[in-house]
Amino acid sequence: MAYSDLRSFLDDLADDLIRVREPLDPRFEIAALLAEVQKSGKAVLFEGVKGRPGQRVAGNLLASRRLAARALGVSEDNLIATYTARSAQRVPPVLAKEAPAQTVVHRDPADIAALLPLLTHYEKDAAPFLTCGMVLARDPATGQRGMGIHRMMFKGGRRFGILLANPPLSQFLANAEASGKPLEIAIALGVDPAMLIASVVKTGPLGPDKMEIAGSLRGAPVELARGVTVDVEVPARAEVVLEGRVLPGVREPEGPFGENTGYYFMNTSPVIEISAVTHRENFIFPALVPWTADVDTLLSLAGGAELFGQLRGLVRGVVDLDIVPGTCSFGAVIAVNNCPSHEVRRLIYLALTLDRRLKSVTVVNDDVNIRDPREVAWALATRFQPERDTVILSGLEGYVIDPSSAGGIGSKMGFDATRGAGADFDRILIPAAAAARAREVAAAIST
Ligand SMILES: Cc1cc2nc3c(=O)[nH]c(=O)nc-3n(C[C@H](O)[C@H](O)[C@H](O)COP(=O)(O)O)c2cc1C
Repeated sequence: MAYSDLRSFLDDLADDLIRVREPLDPRFEIAALLAEVQKSGKAVLFEGVKGRPGQRVAGNLLASRRLAARALGVSEDNLIATYTARSAQRVPPVLAKEAPAQTVVHRDPADIAALLPLLTHYEKDAAPFLTCGMVLARDPATGQRGMGIHRMMFKGGRRFGILLANPPLSQFLANAEASGKPLEIAIALGVDPAMLIASVVKTGPLGPDKMEIAGSLRGAPVELARGVTVDVEVPARAEVVLEGRVLPGVREPEGPFGENTGYYFMNTSPVIEISAVTHRENFIFPALVPWTADVDTLLSLAGGAELFGQLRGLVRGVVDLDIVPGTCSFGAVIAVNNCPSHEVRRLIYLALTLDRRLKSVTVVNDDVNIRDPREVAWALATRFQPERDTVILSGLEGYVIDPSSAGGIGSKMGFDATRGAGADFDRILIPAAAAARAREVAAAIST
């Protein structure tokens, strides 16, 4: 089933949704609760917000593979295959007949904090931040549409700082600034989860329109409406939309902000001036807490699944790939089957250079469960010889928010933890019939 908006997804979650009635504070408390319950893998709806009668917040929307599978309307087993197939297809957006996102319009808002429950997440964050704002714009040079998630720091009144470290938006701003013009943008908050995933698909600087990928992922075209104050189309069924301009040539301190790396990151960043806030009746404000399971799921799809698809086409025997939770896409594990050592080595070189964020990759045989850290550590401890099986590459572009890199340039490493050719490993196993019987008995005990 395709969800056309955030609220229809939430309505459908039943037992996968935790409802919080106690009105928590948007400063720290909402983020703290989301971090606290992330291991449940359930989404959370805050039915009240402290000091903000009538407002609601939803978070942990992709806190597990189960939720991601539900977002795409498939079983967990088919998640990666479905994601890979659909993200290669294009379903162009259509013009909306109606735009619930523009039901209430505030032009030239004096104070955005008075209108929206802006959230503060971590102790030393400099201010409230928008963490899952889908930023939309058109390339002033070509007219091509582009979007991405970019953190935005509330600077009071109608101003935000925005971290533009990635294409296409960083390139669009450079093109606007080349002619001294502002870049018109819209920020969609609270979209259906498939669109959120599509917004961070790695497409490269000249990639396709991610709205077309969103249409394919959700199985129905995205409905777009014209912006009220900017020449940018906005998702008509978003909960909230901010419209505005990135000011040309302006850079100001932005941060500190607790990042997806698990560390604070400060930058000198462009500044946005908001020209309108529009929203639905009884809007639901979205939360995404950095360095939580929500981010892990997003990155393992938009990033991990992409890389898996590429590598499978280049090296025979690649069976599975996952991004290591909590690593902000810097760590990955790949499972292979019947892949000789020289091919594993080629795989390591390819993985580390195809994805510029990837810093460490471990390759294991497919008898190892790559989503179980204990099994991966076991493979490394027992099938890997550091001197023989390590690849180190240096002087490559990494990621600017990696606290250990110098301005984003650094080194990368690969571990070949597959059995060496001719090695005779005899893994201990419980007989299958006994294991099956034990599962039956254990299930009966726990019910
Ligand atoms: C949770 C999350 C937060 C992100 N925050 C930012 C950000 O603050 N600034 C930024 O430039 N990119 C950010 N990104 C990355 C971009 O939204 C997007 O992934 C990128 O444009 C993809 O293009 P690429 O091919 O260059 O990686 C974030 C991604 C995710 C998943």
